[in-house]
Amino acid sequence: MHRKEIPVTERVVLAYSGGLDTSVAIGWIAEETGAEVIAVAVDVGQGGEDLDVIRKRALACGAVEAEVADAKDEFAEEYCLPAIKANARYMDRYPLVSALSRPAIVKHLVAAAKKHDASIVAHGCTGKGNDQVRFEAGIQALGPDLKCIAPVRDYAMTRDKAIAFCEAKQLPIATTKKSPYSIDQNVFGRAIETGFLEDIWNAPIEDIFEYTSNPAEPREADEVVISFASGVPVAIDGRPVTVLQAIQQLNERAGAQGIGRIDMVEDRLVGIKSREVYEAPGAIALITAHQELENVTVERELARFKRQVEQRWGELVYDGLWFSPLKRALDGFIEEANQQVTGDIRMTLHAGTAVVTGRRSERSLYDFDLATYDTGDTFDQSKAQGFIDIFALSAKIAAKRDLV
Ligand code: ARG
Repeated sequence: MHRKEIPVTERVVLAYSGGLDTSVAIGWIAEETGAEVIAVAVDVGQGGEDLDVIRKRALACGAVEAEVADAKDEFAEEYCLPAIKANARYMDRYPLVSALSRPAIVKHLVAAAKKHDASIVAHGCTGKGNDQVRFEAGIQALGPDLKCIAPVRDYAMTRDKAIAFCEAKQLPIATTKKSPYSIDQNVFGRAIETGFLEDIWNAPIEDIFEYTSNPAEPREADEVVISFASGVPVAIDGRPVTVLQAIQQLNERAGAQGIGRIDMVEDRLVGIKSREVYEAPGAIALITAHQELENVTVERELARFKRQVEQRWGELVYDGLWFSPLKRALDGFIEEANQQVTGDIRMTLHAGTAVVTGRRSERSLYDFDLATYDTGDTFDQSKAQGFIDIFALSAKIAAKRDLV
């Protein structure tokens, strides 16, 4: 006895933002592949429209199913928090805002693909950026049997054609007033690229910023105390916070002081150098505080080694290898190194910078009696000379040989 073959329509899960491109992509993918499209929107704190409005729009644009997920807390705890513990800054500056959100979104896409029996996952990235790599490397890691497509890259879905498609099909979405910039934002920060910023001599104009005020404007300084427990921000000015609340509150307070603006030329994974402007007030304030608390609580050799690990961790995450063996192993190290990072950091937020002015910790390695130059000094200075003689010995022998 054999079962009758039922022709199955292929199903595609699409990473849906609610914007013009991914709305058009629903119908575009259906036409190109003959597949049914399931739209999945993930809220990582990008703000903007209500999730239900986005869900209904996906259905109105032809999706057979539409799912929305509020992943703000999950994003803060599982993605931003490890970045804070790693003091993560790609090229010493960029706190990985977009790079952190992609694996968070991927997790929901792959779960939806499994749930709806879809064999393909689609995203709206172009073929020139890092985000396509992050989506697809993540999808392959979590769903090795899934196929990936990107209509903008693979099916020549240009902006002009998308607008024409939208008008021809009378999709319920505005095609007017496209911002000249490509913007990606979430609770950890905001990335602004393209437009006049592509000329790297052009200074950013005030208009492009949303999370930060102009740091040059006169205003009163703001003093904040951030408390950490094993590397996790747990209170602000003595009031308990979740990780999400810590980021949100500091986005407000550090943002009001113009903190966290970054203007840089960045090395993309695909080989291009690109101009990027970021604003990440909460991220920069938290990393600044966390890093200083590490200076107080982490032993020297561990701290020195951690700096190398941090750099590698940031590169892996930037390069889209969030779900990878090396990243996982480094997470273990970073977690261990954060065990003693408990205490309070006081900062003055003002004129574009977060300046640490005080530290306090029960796990402190700072020993006043060892450090003081006043009476009560417990450091035995008589040991220093012998230490230096032996410490410098090998360089001294080499110098004797080399300085003729
Ligand atoms: N260059 C940054 C990164 O690779 C930001 C990317 C922002 N994405 C965007 N579609 N504008 O992480």
